[in-house]
Amino acid sequence: MPEHLMCELSVPGRVGFQYPESDVPAAQLPEDMLRDDLPLPELAEIDVVRYFTRLSQLNHSVDTGFYPLGSCTMKYNPKINEETARIQGFANLHPLQPIETSQGALALMYHLQMWLNEIGGFAGTSLQPAAGAHGELTGVLIIRAYHRSRGDTKRNKILIPDSAHGTNPATSAMSGLQVIELRSDDRGNVDLDALREHCDDTLAGLMLTNPNTLGLFDENVEEVNRLVHEAGGLIYGDGANMNALLGIIRPGDIGFDVLHYNLHKTFSTPHGGGGPGSGPVSVTEQLVDFLPDPVVDIIEPGDEESGVPPLYGLVAPNKTIGRVKAFQGHFGMFVRAYTYIRMHGAEGLRKVSENAVLNANYLLAKLRDTYHIPYDRVCMHEFVAEGRWAEAPDIHALDVAKRLMDFNFHPPTNYFPLIVHESLMIEPTETESKETLDAFAKTLIQIAEEAHSDPELLKSAPHTTPFGRLDEVKAAKELVLCCVPEYARG
Ligand SMILES: Cc1ncc(COP(=O)(O)O)c(C=O)c1O
Repeated sequence: MPEHLMCELSVPGRVGFQYPESDVPAAQLPEDMLRDDLPLPELAEIDVVRYFTRLSQLNHSVDTGFYPLGSCTMKYNPKINEETARIQGFANLHPLQPIETSQGALALMYHLQMWLNEIGGFAGTSLQPAAGAHGELTGVLIIRAYHRSRGDTKRNKILIPDSAHGTNPATSAMSGLQVIELRSDDRGNVDLDALREHCDDTLAGLMLTNPNTLGLFDENVEEVNRLVHEAGGLIYGDGANMNALLGIIRPGDIGFDVLHYNLHKTFSTPHGGGGPGSGPVSVTEQLVDFLPDPVVDIIEPGDEESGVPPLYGLVAPNKTIGRVKAFQGHFGMFVRAYTYIRMHGAEGLRKVSENAVLNANYLLAKLRDTYHIPYDRVCMHEFVAEGRWAEAPDIHALDVAKRLMDFNFHPPTNYFPLIVHESLMIEPTETESKETLDAFAKTLIQIAEEAHSDPELLKSAPHTTPFGRLDEVKAAKELVLCCVPEYARG
């Protein structure tokens, strides 16, 4: 049996189900569709319930504790999102159902497209991409298709600042463009001189994560966009950090041509553990025809007076880059994001961003005397500190992160962004209270003191978690799965 299917709890013959006696004649299944090489664990229902419940309790989650994982926007996922996503009419839909029988779902997608247009200041949106990185790939393919449609085939390079998210260069390279890294200036903005050097007729575009991975809004963003447009390039906005900007600034109004959202960050759909995300892409008028096929549109207008609703359908944009995802995308995420946007309304969304930025700046103010902040200015929804001190030379960001786990705090993102040494990237999100932020700051300050007075306490952390510090490379390369709970092991 493959090692990953072994279960030490399995007892031959033990079952966790009972079928009622069949009241139909047994059907003969085709022999070649049956397999006998998949011996599944044999367990009673209670064994399975205990196993999975115990596993779920070993995990840190946003429902059990503070989760300041920078760049990931681990905000609280309102439970009403889950209720709406489970409405039978949505949950049991088949993507190949005739459109006449799925009008509710199509209407929801249509309105979500419209709201994302409105929030970002764009003319059209595709909900298809499955995640932020997938949105980037889609957006860059749109930029390429646009240049090619005009016979502008020389444009083969894309500029990516060194403060970008790591997926930006990866997805741009996947689309076949040559990636050129731009350095940041000492305030964490795109270095305009470096940018000017590359603004020529081979420029396809620039991909800007804004706010960037330092948690900073680029102070020259309009100048950056102007220079790129002047050279004939387009601007891709990585909008995964829109949690800082909702209702405050619309990227489409300041020169962005394409932008992706991360519904699983900004609009509170759950993520982590590789769960389904969603990375819709919005574009300006000149790019609407290139969006992936299909988008949802009104194919027959309704008549409000006589109460006839419009008919929604799936439409292929004229010069579409084609399909980028099976069917219509991750529909369950659309329902959750739709619910979140409707529950908040325009005013509420603006408050989300105001509070996300306020919370991050509050923490920054509490920590800047203890932790070095390499780019220290008003931050957006997150900021980057350094987990190192000259007087505590053995201590690294990793040790600070591991020690935080002893206090039931999820560690911040560490060692990213790469342009900061020993980085700790802290994103509190808007859903945390002042009490939580105070407790977190107090703990980080205590850990900084321990780094000087008792470094071994940090080096050997965590001490209170189900497992201590793992050799992460070995753990990943020599994965040993074990179903037996610790208390039952010999
Ligand atoms: C700024 C930024 N861009 C892109 C991504 C990629 O998104 P995803 O993980 O959904 O592919 C992330 C992920 O957190 C991000 O923070």
